[in-house]
Amino acid sequence: MDQYVIKGGNPLVGEVEIGGAKNAALAILAAAIMTDETVIVENLPNVRDTNVLLQAMEEIGARVERLDYHTVKINSSGIGSYSVDYEYIKRIRASYYLLGAMLGKYKRAEVPLPGGCNIGSRPIDQHLKGFKALGADVKIEYGFIVAEAEHLQGSHIYLDVVSVGATINIMMAAAMAEGNTVLENAAKEPHVVDVANFLNSMGANIKGAGTDVIRIKGVERLHATEYSIIPDQIEAGTFMFAAAVTKGDVTVKNVIPKHLEATTSKLLEIGCEIEELDDAVRVVCAKGLKPTNVKTLPYPGFPTDMQPQITVALALAKGTSIVTESIFENRFKYVDELARMGASIKVEGNTAIIDGVGKYTGAQISSPDLRAGAALVLAGLAADGITLVEDVHFIERGYERFEEKLKSLGAMIEKVRGEKEIQKFRLKVG
Ligand code: UD1
Repeated sequence: MDQYVIKGGNPLVGEVEIGGAKNAALAILAAAIMTDETVIVENLPNVRDTNVLLQAMEEIGARVERLDYHTVKINSSGIGSYSVDYEYIKRIRASYYLLGAMLGKYKRAEVPLPGGCNIGSRPIDQHLKGFKALGADVKIEYGFIVAEAEHLQGSHIYLDVVSVGATINIMMAAAMAEGNTVLENAAKEPHVVDVANFLNSMGANIKGAGTDVIRIKGVERLHATEYSIIPDQIEAGTFMFAAAVTKGDVTVKNVIPKHLEATTSKLLEIGCEIEELDDAVRVVCAKGLKPTNVKTLPYPGFPTDMQPQITVALALAKGTSIVTESIFENRFKYVDELARMGASIKVEGNTAIIDGVGKYTGAQISSPDLRAGAALVLAGLAADGITLVEDVHFIERGYERFEEKLKSLGAMIEKVRGEKEIQKFRLKVG
């Protein structure tokens, strides 16, 4: 099993190129099966989650060809099965986007019911409610969600909770329903907009994505397209907090600064300086960090996927901070690992009360999930001494060449396997 070994203490300095948004990519890849014509997707992050989804798509008959490291060509005219194997959903929840995509195109889809995950129970009732409202018959059979319809009929759908996944899944199915759909209380995340733009580039008629009312006029068929995915706001935010915790000076490049506003405003509150350029943001944090309070919210609020990273920074700030997690119920698991590095954090329900400690000390820790794993790496970069982060595979689900990008900013980090390689790193860094 791969591990990251880190010697902390180096301020991160320099420029880093941000890749395409993983969460947009997952939905866009799934939506690519909604046409028999060829689709080219550019700026695709080459990470484990997108690669697993591509395998799932190949398994049901799509032809996938890599044109280069970040570009893929997909032709789905050969799809012969509407049933996705449990193997894939086990490895990546978002393969449930194939439900909306297949239901829209083929009027039939079978996808295993995703279970809970490390950040809490994650119901998909709103996705299913939407499919039913479009006229699909939806059953749970032998662990599978089976959705089918003679034809889908546009409808008026109100989401009871703001859900990114449900918004996208329903939008995909409704794009090929008959007549009009109005989706209210929709999620407004940039990747919802990106998926709508992608579908529109294939001939769909979707208006209002990015607001809480999305209007979809169903079309009979979708066509070929060539599309470039938006930059990943969470990868960008992670590097911005890496600058904050190491007292560094980092410019994240190839970003849309508007998408990063919640992150930049919190960085300003904790004492960093921010310079916004057209497609880059520079973060300079020369001084000690200040405490603040933060509550995760749907976009444009502070993203839950940045919650562990900001907590890692606040645990270093002088004073008391409060972090409230309002999206997922179980997203503070990593706090126990952070405590092993010296953090003083008390979790009560969905609130973490943080007493800043000024510094971390290196320890052997384990990443419980994707974003928390990345956040623990940041803690290691800020810590005195050596930190060993286990279960790197979680981080690789969503960060491409994470350690290489950090290294290019001056971090002392290596991906290793086993004691021998750890010793080699120790000797190298002294
Ligand atoms: C997506 C992102 C994830 C991010 C999350 C919130 C992807 C692949 N993942 O996850 O990284 O953390 O948005 O920004 O894009 N809920 C229900 N019923 C439903 C659906 C959701 O009750 O049918 C609840 C969830 O339990 C959660 C909240 O709604 O409390 C938001 O979840 P949702 O926006 O759906 O998250 P995902 O799409 O799963």
